[in-house]
Amino acid sequence: MCGIIGYIGSKEAVPILLDGLKKLEYRGYDSAGIAVLKDNKIKIVKCKGKVAKLENLLEKDAPKGNIGLGHTRWATHGKPNDINAHPHNGCNSEIVVVHNGIIENYMSLRERLILEGHNFISETDTEVLPHLIESNYHNDFTLAVKESLKEIEGSYAIGVISTRDPGKIVASRCGSPLIIGIGEGEMFLASDIPALLIYTNRVIFLEEREIATITKDGVEIINSKGKILHKKVINIDWGEEMIEKSGYKHFMLKEIFQETMVIRNNLEGRINLSTKTLQPENLPLPLDRIKEIERISILACGSSYYTALAGKYIFEELTGIPVEVDYSSEFRYRKILLGKKDLAILISQSGETADTLAALRACRKAGSYILALTNVRGSAISREADSVMYIKAGPEIGVATTKAFVSQLMCLYILSLYFAQVRKTLDLSEINKIISELIKIPQMVEIILLKEPEIIKLSEEFHKYHNFLYLGRGINYPIALEGALKLKEISYIHAEGYAAGEMKHGPIALLDKTFPVVVIVPQDKVYTKVINNIKEVKARDTLVLAIATEGDKEIINIADKVIYIPKTLDILYPILSVIPLQLFAYHIADRLGCDVDKPRNLAKSVTVE
Ligand code: M6R
Repeated sequence: MCGIIGYIGSKEAVPILLDGLKKLEYRGYDSAGIAVLKDNKIKIVKCKGKVAKLENLLEKDAPKGNIGLGHTRWATHGKPNDINAHPHNGCNSEIVVVHNGIIENYMSLRERLILEGHNFISETDTEVLPHLIESNYHNDFTLAVKESLKEIEGSYAIGVISTRDPGKIVASRCGSPLIIGIGEGEMFLASDIPALLIYTNRVIFLEEREIATITKDGVEIINSKGKILHKKVINIDWGEEMIEKSGYKHFMLKEIFQETMVIRNNLEGRINLSTKTLQPENLPLPLDRIKEIERISILACGSSYYTALAGKYIFEELTGIPVEVDYSSEFRYRKILLGKKDLAILISQSGETADTLAALRACRKAGSYILALTNVRGSAISREADSVMYIKAGPEIGVATTKAFVSQLMCLYILSLYFAQVRKTLDLSEINKIISELIKIPQMVEIILLKEPEIIKLSEEFHKYHNFLYLGRGINYPIALEGALKLKEISYIHAEGYAAGEMKHGPIALLDKTFPVVVIVPQDKVYTKVINNIKEVKARDTLVLAIATEGDKEIINIADKVIYIPKTLDILYPILSVIPLQLFAYHIADRLGCDVDKPRNLAKSVTVE
């Protein structure tokens, strides 16, 4: 949802801004731009399209200067074009702003400013900001920004530079993330950590409505009332190599191949691998809380919603606690029926998804205990939750989530085993049995990843189809939904996920030989039911690709193609069955020449409604 980068120091700003924009491009890539301040002039270069296009423009004529801002856009107000691209200017080219978020009252502000004589050129909501700051500017840059933000309704992360006070960047946030990076004689501003890692790992997370005045030697941060704050500097332990492609063609492929490692990371410290027991000291939630939970409500968006759905099966099976699962975007506008004995689990890789954050706040109002499962330390959701379980996936750059998905599943398994132990819904031998199998999952994942050549061949055959149906039953139903989402979001092929038993209630009408079906059919308790569903599909001349258990002799006589996954416990199949579906989607999209890491119209973290 737009990426912001800022630099102030003694180096040339443009290369640093461009490098930052490339690292933030996953947040939006409709248009890109930079502004550089030198000799009391601000030069702006911006264009429709990706950062590579901006880089080409800058190769010919890059503005010189040591202070600058950059922006990569995911369009909300105003279509992607050169004029709507950020940065935006006030009337006299003296105040320049980059913005991530939505200014909800921009129409009324714009009308007022036009009456005051301001001249607007873009269709964006953002453009009101430089004009508003211009109109509130009476000698003090920070104060002008502070007074202007008081008039803003909506969400924002902003960076502002001005020729009237040229040695500063003023920045603030409300609802969209913003981080300050601390260097030696230089300072940085960014929407996310990866953009800063090459320069510094010392960062300050700005909180809601705080305003930072950044010079090359440091930063002063005030709250919205003007009180000076002394904020903690956090050392980030992510290495620079973690945000490189490391020889893979795309981040998505690299991230799929990191799944073995992230599953191990999630076991580490939470499960004692020799005794095969849980390590409660490293697990979230006070014991009393766990004992008194009457209901769990899991809230999330997109793929995280599908892990939440799998979580329902896992929690209900292992703990007997009733679980409700909701899209955050639906939950937030419904009558909230949660109470003090309910546990709300918010799942969000980025920790910044606007709808999930709003759902969290609704749960807070209802008095429920809030547990966040997120990947990003310092993210809004991690800061506002009562407890956080980090999903330990490391930076995920590909817009389509892969390793974060399996990491979230791992957390849900471990958490529900912990609840089962505390509430004694399983005896220790049953817990031990699941843990013994869980710790074998990384080796099983390695076996699946070795099947990549087979999946590449399958992509050759399947990439020419325009519609797919994905079927799964029981705990693999959410994986059918995720498999279909992966294919559609990166290859733009229409794909629908369905509960296998529901197929005959409608979707079967679609099927013929042009409409392949991907079925998840492990040898679990609904195996024979799914086999019957496959037979119903085959009776319509449809091509079937099955994800089945190694050693299943029957499936090859029924399905046309099979990808085998290792045998495991019924409840653990999702973490294995999703991986071939991720690889399948990746190779189809790559074969079709799609921009796998940056699919059209999408952004990695959706910080607007
Ligand atoms: O950061 P979050 O987990 O809150 O993001 C939720 C969705 O936006 C995300 O999962 C989205 O659906 C991805 N494109 C899926 O690959």
